[in-house]
Amino acid sequence: MFIRVVSVFFCMLAACSAILQGTIDVKKLQGILDEGLISKDISSMYHSLKGLKQIGAKIPDVCQDIKSAKCDLNNIEQVFYLTNAAALSGCQNFLSPDVLGAPVRVLDKKDASISDIYYAVYSLKAIGKGQTMEKEEALKNLIQLLKKDDSPANYGFVFALCEHMGCEAWTAQHTDGILLSADESDSKALHFEGGLPVTSFVLTTILRSFKVLKKPSPLSPEQRYKFATYLVSRRSVNTPRGASLLLEAAYAIADDQPTPICISFKDRKYITSEMDTIEFSVTDLIGRAIPNLKPEEVVAQSGTRLADDVVVLSKQPLVKKQNELTTFVLNLSKIKTQYGMYKISLAAGTKSSNFNVAVLGEIQLGNLEVGIGDVDGTTSPKVTTLTYPNKLTDVLQADHLQKVSLKFSVKDKWNKPVSVQQAFVRVAPVGGEDEAIFVAEPDNTKAYKVDLNVGSLGKLVQQLSGRYTVSVYLGDSAVSNPLLWDLGEISFQFSKDLSAIDSAGRRAGASAVRGPLPEIAHTFREPDARPPRFVSDVFAAACAAPLLLLLLLWAKIGINFGNLPLTPAALLFHLALGGSLALYGLFWLQLSMFVTLRYLTPLAALTFLSGHSLLRRLAQDKKR
Ligand SMILES: *[C@@H]1O[C@H](CO)[C@@H](O)[C@H](O)[C@H]1NC(C)=O
Repeated sequence: MFIRVVSVFFCMLAACSAILQGTIDVKKLQGILDEGLISKDISSMYHSLKGLKQIGAKIPDVCQDIKSAKCDLNNIEQVFYLTNAAALSGCQNFLSPDVLGAPVRVLDKKDASISDIYYAVYSLKAIGKGQTMEKEEALKNLIQLLKKDDSPANYGFVFALCEHMGCEAWTAQHTDGILLSADESDSKALHFEGGLPVTSFVLTTILRSFKVLKKPSPLSPEQRYKFATYLVSRRSVNTPRGASLLLEAAYAIADDQPTPICISFKDRKYITSEMDTIEFSVTDLIGRAIPNLKPEEVVAQSGTRLADDVVVLSKQPLVKKQNELTTFVLNLSKIKTQYGMYKISLAAGTKSSNFNVAVLGEIQLGNLEVGIGDVDGTTSPKVTTLTYPNKLTDVLQADHLQKVSLKFSVKDKWNKPVSVQQAFVRVAPVGGEDEAIFVAEPDNTKAYKVDLNVGSLGKLVQQLSGRYTVSVYLGDSAVSNPLLWDLGEISFQFSKDLSAIDSAGRRAGASAVRGPLPEIAHTFREPDARPPRFVSDVFAAACAAPLLLLLLLWAKIGINFGNLPLTPAALLFHLALGGSLALYGLFWLQLSMFVTLRYLTPLAALTFLSGHSLLRRLAQDKKR
């Protein structure tokens, strides 16, 4: 008892629902399988045959297709598909004796993998050459192989081989460990590493083995529910292989009692005042009726309105539809007048889950008042009253010192005032494209009111005076007849001066918005004014003075080349140095930095090498 209370408590915490909201779409999967049967691909044909056999569909004569299907007889997996497809369709006689080659070779090999052994054994079994294996010896061998790679997939192959050899007891021993190794996602779904193929294979071999041993199912109801959740979520399956794996696993889980319960909407998820019932399908994972479920056990435990959490129904039984085993009808006529979204908690037996349904209602509009008066409220407004869906008979006038007030109320079918999720007023120039949208808010008495201050409206529509159409929009996700009411026209006179300035700007602006924009021309900053010619000449001369002095002094005392060692290195050094200086001059005059650097690199290397050797020479001379 205590454990049960605790688990219910955890269920509440994790919002876990013990009812699946969906089933495996057997019809759709059968379509995929039917296509796979005519695909000429041996793997697709095998899986199609397997899946169709699983759902008990009639299998056409495919012997010729199997005989002519492309198949690599050296590939043990393909041989497995070929032989087993033949076995499933009773076409073994159409196989050539060559198919024996690969399986026999695999079984003779010392280092065959577990999967290859599985394929080989079951290929031979399919053509009636099932080997009587030395059970103890073979199992020992497989356990050795499992030590190398103990993935769930490999356990699945060994479990399947045990079905052949009769060592299901070993499978039963290792089942709990393998089930514990399943990965859990979102604490909702369980699957094995390797996805659908491994999950399907491992689950089906385990459940078959337990049946042979006549033991109760090893799956807890929670595990069964979580594996089922994983299977239901594989909606994107689109290959015969995926379809057949999904079907096999789904049938295995559905046949394992107590089977997980699935409840889904039969068609509609909403009611209206005319159709006040919703039909639910209560089935197992593959759409069959739940055994041992009494019709009175299907109950709507509670119903609450999402908008305000008001409880609207409790413990209302569903009615089983006559002559339909799985259809249960919920009569919601009690709440059909209060439209909105509702959360219904449905229970089947001891399990329950929440479903959202909508109560769609019709709305109608009462009278609408259009009042035009001064912004400051000094004079009483002039009111025009309209009834839906009539239009204003004349064009009303309003200028920028006035405001236009719209007042209306929304009612349901029974004339009760209601509020809607969306209520808008749209103002748009006749024949124009601009528009201004205003949100209408209800007050406490659910009366809607919108004040249009003409002065501020002008800013939204470019101060363009003239005729505007005004319309009211009403909508709600739970309303079956959203309304659009075109009220007619109002002529707005916006402020003159503003509109004069603006209409020019607007014309330019409008063309700018649609046409190409003017080209952008960049202007550089004007250079600063230069100093007078005389000043710059004086400064140029001042800069050149030291050079002049040097030349003068050279002329006077002469140049002494006496210490210059006349070796090739010295000559080269001075030439290279001169070259560098000349390059520097050229850099000033015309070369770019990168070109200069390109010329400088070899020159610099030359200068460095020759300079180095010159210096060494000078140093040696000094020593001597
Ligand atoms: C639902 O219940 C109401 C009142 O009990 C009844 O009038 C109505 O006919 C029921 N609807 C259907 C479809 O049976």
